[in-house]
Amino acid sequence: MRTLVSHTGTRYDVSDPRWKCDSGALLDLEFTPLFTPGDRPGMWRYRAALPIENDAHIVSFDEGGTPLTRTTVAGQDIWLKQDHLFPSGSYKDRGASVLISRAVELGVDRVVEDSSGNAGAAIAAYCAKAKIGCDIYVPDSTSPAKLAQIEAYGATLHRIPGSREDTANAALKAAKGQFYASHVWNPFFFHGTKTFAYEVVDQLGREPDRVVIPTGNGTLLIGVWIGFNDLLAAGRIERIPELIAVQAENCAPLHARRNGTDFTTAPTRAEGIAIAEPARQDQMLDIIGRSGGRIVTVSEEAIGDALEQAVADGWFIEPTSASALAAIPRLEPAETVVIPLTGHGLKSH
Ligand SMILES: Cc1ncc(COP(=O)(O)O)c(C=O)c1O
Repeated sequence: MRTLVSHTGTRYDVSDPRWKCDSGALLDLEFTPLFTPGDRPGMWRYRAALPIENDAHIVSFDEGGTPLTRTTVAGQDIWLKQDHLFPSGSYKDRGASVLISRAVELGVDRVVEDSSGNAGAAIAAYCAKAKIGCDIYVPDSTSPAKLAQIEAYGATLHRIPGSREDTANAALKAAKGQFYASHVWNPFFFHGTKTFAYEVVDQLGREPDRVVIPTGNGTLLIGVWIGFNDLLAAGRIERIPELIAVQAENCAPLHARRNGTDFTTAPTRAEGIAIAEPARQDQMLDIIGRSGGRIVTVSEEAIGDALEQAVADGWFIEPTSASALAAIPRLEPAETVVIPLTGHGLKSH
């Protein structure tokens, strides 16, 4: 059974193509995954845990199954999960594969999406594979490599002056009467990103103690939470790891909310997490608290230093991804710490 459930409790049949409640509230997807071993490569080996009815609708490049590699970061033993090695160069492909499969399932022939760049590139890639049209809205300031990538896939690119929120508003207008393939609003996206948690547990043979995640709209944070909870419910792990949300000091709305401090924003080179008004912030704060985790903010200098060190060690990642590495010196050591490398360096250099 798959049911759309709004944050105000209203329930909708899954055949409904809606992305929000009539009240305007966010939707989640209620779905009980099965962990029947699958024979597909990558993240679709968890086929029975992914909420797509018919195999014929799956849009996939056999993505996922990214390496989990042990290394040293700031003097601590860390496991890096190499999600920058996805077909479009970021972990967003996990969500895009499930969300665009969902669009195919609904018979949609054109979608609208807004993004700081990577989710737009991922949606454009999967739309190209599915031969679905797409309009991608991004802030004008988005890295040129991401803009070129989105256009190369054949998407119609809309560059919006102003903030990330101005971009979201432009997309919302365009989405009236079209399928809004929003990685923030559409809950199917999170049922792709949850496979991050499934893979980590399979690779380690147990749950990690902590996962440190660059967090803007929370699509990895929320997905990872769903994934670990699925595994807990299935008796595959004993407890939920501590989830640490990393925000740039220059744009840290979760941190301000949690501490009751004034929120101001300034530009940050971590463009993927420059989200001043994340739609799911209540949900994220709840998840962070319930996992026993917390929010860590990192300065522009710390992000720059962490990036420089990572690249000098051979990890070619983008600045947003380096923000999680920058958080390590701010955290007390834990035994098994996992950090996703979320975006490839070619996108920002
Ligand atoms: C490279 C990278 N890392 C992390 C994130 C954070 O994802 P979210 O905004 O869903 O929390 C993004 C978002 O665009 C990103 O591009």
